[in-house]
Amino acid sequence: MSKAKTFGEFIMDGQAAFPFVSGQLTRLLTDIGVASKIVNHQVNRAGLAGILGEAGSINIQDEAQQKLDVYADSTFNRILASGGSVAGIGSEEQESPIICGDEGRKGKYIVLIDPLDGSSNVDVNVSIGTIFSIHRRVTPMGEPISDVDFLQPGVNQIASGYILYGSSTMLVYTTGSGVNGFTLDPAVGEFFLSHPAMEFPERGRIYSINDALLGKCSLPSRLFVDGCRQTRGARFRARYIGSLVADFHRNLIQGGIYLYPSLAKKPLGKLRLLYECAPLAFIAEQAGGMAIDDEGRVMDRIPTELHERSPYYVGNRNLIHAFLACQLAAKNRSMDTLPKREK
Ligand code: AHG
Ligand code: MN
Ligand code: MN
Repeated sequence: MSKAKTFGEFIMDGQAAFPFVSGQLTRLLTDIGVASKIVNHQVNRAGLAGILGEAGSINIQDEAQQKLDVYADSTFNRILASGGSVAGIGSEEQESPIICGDEGRKGKYIVLIDPLDGSSNVDVNVSIGTIFSIHRRVTPMGEPISDVDFLQPGVNQIASGYILYGSSTMLVYTTGSGVNGFTLDPAVGEFFLSHPAMEFPERGRIYSINDALLGKCSLPSRLFVDGCRQTRGARFRARYIGSLVADFHRNLIQGGIYLYPSLAKKPLGKLRLLYECAPLAFIAEQAGGMAIDDEGRVMDRIPTELHERSPYYVGNRNLIHAFLACQLAAKNRSMDTLPKREK
């Protein structure tokens, strides 16, 4: 009887198929899998925090118990920094990048990470996640790393993925040749290939946006949502969890679009380009979908700072095309309202 492939076996096979890919990327992806299992264990115990000791108390290892996003951040950072293949880590939870080893001279890769996405859902037992992005360093090996290593466009990513701590725990990733999803079997502590070659269904019918923002958001999103509400026959459904990873994952499987638009007081919206938008854009494109901002393709955008924000629209091609039509309509409408030049 054949058995499902483990995450470890799958990435080793990938390496065997591309002998020029160094074992270091395999090691790095393995480390991400290990760190995610440790975080998963803690996520599953989150509801017990009040019984076993609030954040700030001391656990049996004599270590301070921390809130989950601090815990996830320190777990990923510790494991990634000690693996030897990472030169630097840019984390949502750290203002400045973490430089590994001797000024980052040795590691080959840069990791950008949102260690715990959807943290507002932690206390209410709703799905949360981790998002990661991997780049090759730009500065030559042996030299200290610098800003240029972190501020690379999404097209330079060599891998990206997410872990969803949901009704089951899943790891979904791409190295640029399709998207594969693995489900954690908690009994044996292994991720098994459960969703090979993931793709958006041909047509999406879900739209995901924080409805309370609609009054303050830019015109294309308002036009788009109006369109969804009024479309007869197509039967759109609105679904919004408030954890980007969970909303993205559902839309990937069932077909849909996620929108976090520019707002009157926050023209760049809320989401972060390097460790939320770009990694999921890579997955979306590899799964036959699209990801855009207010200017164009997210993967092409060149970042200028580590924690830069970006408006974000990601999902099925048919829905992104419909959104692009709304962007165009909004542009034409604002042209109409410009004062006419006198003859
Ligand atoms: P994080 O928990 O990493 O700060 O990210 C939260 C993000 C994202 O996960 C989610 O989709 C979005 O914030 C929700 O924002 P609103 O509450 O404004 O809808
Ligand atoms: Mn997040
Ligand atoms: Mn976060």
